Amino acid sequence: MNRTLVICKPDAVERGLVGELVGRLERKGLRLVAAQLRQIDEATASEHYEEHRGKPFYPDLVGFITRSPSMVLVMEGPVDTWSIVRTLMGSTNPAEAPPGTIRGDLGTLLTENLVHGSDSAESAAREIAIFFPGLA
Ligand code: RTP
Ligand code: MG
Repeated sequence: MNRTLVICKPDAVERGLVGELVGRLERKGLRLVAAQLRQIDEATASEHYEEHRGKPFYPDLVGFITRSPSMVLVMEGPVDTWSIVRTLMGSTNPAEAPPGTIRGDLGTLLTENLVHGSDSAESAAREIAIFFPGLA
């Protein structure tokens, strides 16, 4: 089986959309392996979003992801689970994401786009180790 990291971001938790997001992933056929409601601290956010350090939007991104609790998930599927999740998420900017996707159906703002999903198999392994170091 093949795993990826998903974060229901602070806006999703604040808006009461965690059940909606998890339901979409489960109905697709992915299985929940781990879940933790936690307020991500700055050090963890910095490690998680290391590829974006130094970019103009980075301070806002870290401010957003740390502002209130997130629901952090590991999801499992048969193959390329990271890619299946990215398809369900829709494009980064919800204003441009197609209907039928999480971001396309539920969001409007680039800065509050509800959900994170690992962007490759390598990212999935790296990010799962950050949030769930006990998961082999
Ligand atoms: P994520 O990592 O959160 O799953 O989102 P993503 O892969 O779709 O997008 P990514 O390029 O990794 O960007 C991470 C988050 O930063 C914000 N962003 N703002 N102002 C901007 O130009 C800009 N670009 C990206 C978005 O909130 C995005 O989710
Ligand atoms: Mg990304």
